[in-house]
Amino acid sequence: MRHVFQTLRFKLLFWYLLSLVILGVFIILTIHILQYKYSVQLIIGLFILLAIIGFVVVYKITQTITFLSFQMRQISSKNLDKKITSIKGNDEIGQLANSFNGLLDRLDKAFKRERQFIADVAHEMKTPIATLRSSFEVTLRKERTNEEYKKMIKDSIIETDRLTTTLKDILDLAWSEVPNEKLREYFNLSQLMSELSEIAQKLAMKKNITVSSNVKSQITIKGFRERLGRALLNIIDNAIKYTPSNGRIYIALIKEQNNALITIEDNGQGIESKELDHIFDRFYRGSKAEKTFGAGLGLAIAKATIKMHKGVIQVQSRPKIGTTFSIAIPLS
Ligand SMILES: Nc1ncnc2c1ncn2[C@@H]1O[C@H](COP(=O)(O)OP(=O)(O)OP(=O)(O)O)[C@@H](O)[C@H]1O
Ligand SMILES: [Mg+2]
Repeated sequence: MRHVFQTLRFKLLFWYLLSLVILGVFIILTIHILQYKYSVQLIIGLFILLAIIGFVVVYKITQTITFLSFQMRQISSKNLDKKITSIKGNDEIGQLANSFNGLLDRLDKAFKRERQFIADVAHEMKTPIATLRSSFEVTLRKERTNEEYKKMIKDSIIETDRLTTTLKDILDLAWSEVPNEKLREYFNLSQLMSELSEIAQKLAMKKNITVSSNVKSQITIKGFRERLGRALLNIIDNAIKYTPSNGRIYIALIKEQNNALITIEDNGQGIESKELDHIFDRFYRGSKAEKTFGAGLGLAIAKATIKMHKGVIQVQSRPKIGTTFSIAIPLS
């Protein structure tokens, strides 16, 4: 209730009604009861006084608005951490200043995130490009046989393929926050999971890893089929990458209450508990991941995509025993 008295709306209305009452009382008093000779002059005088006070009140209000807009103009992408502190009070203008500060806060965080992302991307691309360049230089230092040239070119192709994969992942991640809502459609998740299990079997063959699956049929969700498929494939790809030869992977899809529940489990090297908090960060790679190729983007993409589907992803892992990723996505 106290809040209402502090609003400009209330103050102005109060001022307006009070003026009317004062004028009314004054008129009745001077003309009808006291019957003053100068009552007309007195009323004009009072009218002018009330008008002046009214003008001052309105002027003060618009002055704070002008001041606020002046302060807003001073803020650009370079000083988003600046805040509007000179406007205090609980009225509408105070609230406007507060909301504006909140907006600045959110923009500041978003800008910092983007800047960090660009820095991370640059860092990530620099090393492979430098490696590629130095291998060209070494090759050119003296005459080489055709075979040597061929080998060098083949190696370079592998290296550029890796760069392309990383770049694709980066683009995936950059766009993961602005999906086109119109492309959200109903699709059969059971079918997608069966396809992914088949892909997993093919990928796992090289390492002689056994893939078993339990996919309940006719589970439908609304979302982006392609995107979700790629995200889940990232998790399957990890399961294969971080599980030694002859290991086991289990893929499941069931319905639980109002969720589709996906499980991807492996009996591989596992993740240290202190690393678990970081595996979804972009460009984070585990301490034991050096031997395998990767940029540390797979899980960040997976998490962003699952969030896009209003789902959650959780991980349980024990070193040398295995890792289980559980994903719950609301059924539409
Ligand atoms: N199934 C798993 N078993 C063990 N460690 C895992 C597993 N999945 C992820 N990790 C750990 O989490 C880290 C981050 O995974 P993420 O998929 O984001 O990156 P990456 O696999 O290293 O590279 P990328 O996916 O970009 O090729 C990995 O480097 C690895 O240390
Ligand atoms: Mg990965």
